[in-house]
Amino acid sequence: MKFIVFEGLDGSGKTTLIKKLSQELDQSRIHHIHTREPGGSKLGDELRHMILRTEGEAPVPRAELLMYEAARAQHVDRLIRPALADKKWVLCDRFSASSIAFQSGGRHISEDQVTWLNQFATGHLEPDLTVLLDLSAEESEKRRSGRNEAADRMEKEDRDFHERIRKSFLKQAESPTWLTLNAALNVETLHSQLMHHLRGLKWL
Ligand code: TYD
Repeated sequence: MKFIVFEGLDGSGKTTLIKKLSQELDQSRIHHIHTREPGGSKLGDELRHMILRTEGEAPVPRAELLMYEAARAQHVDRLIRPALADKKWVLCDRFSASSIAFQSGGRHISEDQVTWLNQFATGHLEPDLTVLLDLSAEESEKRRSGRNEAADRMEKEDRDFHERIRKSFLKQAESPTWLTLNAALNVETLHSQLMHHLRGLKWL
């Protein structure tokens, strides 16, 4: 089993790429689940709604971080670890790296504190691979404004906020367990680059 996380700015195409990988795994009869953060459990979805809604009282940055971490702890214990124990692959849309990028890079909470909380929430569970769909803040904004849905609380932040997030992702992606793909490319190309990487790792 493998634990693969997808990261990137909003609008970077994570969901589409995960769906394509999921189809590929189905064809190879590899059991897997597709999940996302915040979410992946009833409580996680409730927290997601509370964090991202634009009406009502907005959480201060530390409260926001703790809410993401609470959702993550529930997600890890209730869904991710049981799936891995069941020998399933886990494809996850966002994980701890998003807290480093958004709450540390974006909201200026110290990276050490976010790292500590990530480890506390996950019990030190780390992805086997993190795929970064790298996109400029400008392109992310363009893609988001082309959607029909209303912007959530994070998406309403300014260009600078998203630039800092991208920078944090790129720094984290220097780790050998990350793969960076250019999200400006079309999805077929991205999918074949990902498959090439997974075959290179002999996972497929
Ligand atoms: P996402 O599901 O990617 O949003 P969408 O479905 O609208 O594309 O993520 C929700 C938002 O939460 C996104 O703006 C990133 C943010 N986020 C954090 O700020 N910190 C975190 O730890 C996580 C997991 C997400």
